[in-house]
Amino acid sequence: MGEAKTLPAAGGGEAVGFGDAVLTIKGLVVKYNTFRGELTALGGVDLNVRRSRIIAIVGESGCGKSTLGLSIIRLLPVPPARVAGGEIHFAGKNLVELPESQMTRLRGTGLSMIFQEPLSSLDPVYTVGDQLAETIRVRDERVGKPSYGPFRVAPAPEESHRTASRLLGARLPRPRASRKYPDEAIKALREVQISDPELVAAKYPHELSGGMAQRVMIATALLEKPSILIADEPTSALDVTTQAQVLELMRELRDEIGASVLFITHDLAVAAQIADEVVVMYAGEIVEHAEAGQLFSNPMHPYTEGLLQSFPRKFKDEEKLKAIPGDVPDLRFPPSGCKFHPRCTYAFDRCRVELPLAKEVSPGHRVACFLRQ
Ligand SMILES: Nc1ncnc2c1ncn2[C@@H]1O[C@H](COP(=O)(O)OP(=O)(O)O)[C@@H](O)[C@H]1O
Ligand SMILES: [Mg+2]
Repeated sequence: MGEAKTLPAAGGGEAVGFGDAVLTIKGLVVKYNTFRGELTALGGVDLNVRRSRIIAIVGESGCGKSTLGLSIIRLLPVPPARVAGGEIHFAGKNLVELPESQMTRLRGTGLSMIFQEPLSSLDPVYTVGDQLAETIRVRDERVGKPSYGPFRVAPAPEESHRTASRLLGARLPRPRASRKYPDEAIKALREVQISDPELVAAKYPHELSGGMAQRVMIATALLEKPSILIADEPTSALDVTTQAQVLELMRELRDEIGASVLFITHDLAVAAQIADEVVVMYAGEIVEHAEAGQLFSNPMHPYTEGLLQSFPRKFKDEEKLKAIPGDVPDLRFPPSGCKFHPRCTYAFDRCRVELPLAKEVSPGHRVACFLRQ
């Protein structure tokens, strides 16, 4: 797969200049049409994603994190959403202009996405094993490789069986449990620490716990071997132990497949555990982007500083937690100038009228704030 060239960022801002970017986003603008007017969910996003990196995308709810993820894999709800400007370069192509047929080919093998609610991404009428087998079949077909053989995905024969199981509150024995699934599917389930993969392969999505379903989604991603995995709050619905296992799987994806993971989370503690780099979003813009260590030790944007002060850190018990005053603005009526200025304790006149563009303040550390320019 060819790599996208690194492009200069739009509008005088600077994306951190990494030469080996696998994904380059330039001046991306996304708008939603709502009953009460149009809102700008992404106001010109520039981002370079390097190979084999876990990049946490953080920010309060409503800052545009999911919109960014959905734009890349082009699963935005259109309408109401529309891409009003910008470019997304991946595998030598501008995804914004790519016909849907080619985009479908890229999804899965090139770009994968997992969601907070894994059950909504699994098809309720197919067993886990059937869905994994189908993933393998589609993947091999895409690269013109003969598959392991003809494979037919069998829909659940009787809805009645499941209804009966539910009504009786018991699992009725099912002949399908003895069904053969491809070795690779079973191996993928084992890789995501599912201890009885043959049994789980024969289950339907509704029979899985949240943690199990998320692991199945990650197993799917492992099989697809994407260059970029977009994970939108993948651990938010999980207990802490399962969450830790999922994070470990993300690292494996990075280290073994060389995938880059865009890890969307509102939880800075999770970002601190997993990220190589952190992207901070506020009101549809990237306000800071740096190596994780750098960002946590030396936050440069007042919003990042506010976020860090509002989450508990292990070794700083003596520090009082401070909430950032105010709320994320209604993006139909964004404030003038810097969108953060109404909540910023450092704001001065220029901030109220002029939008600060992102500047690289030290190698690999990019900030959009007049205090730093
Ligand atoms: N389907 C939609 N229709 C209208 N507005 C939307 C839709 N999805 C998201 N938005 C708006 O876009 C902005 C960004 O939302 P989102 O990307 O979901 O943020 P985050 O993931 O950071 O919470 C918010 O103002 C949100 O209200
Ligand atoms: Mg979201």
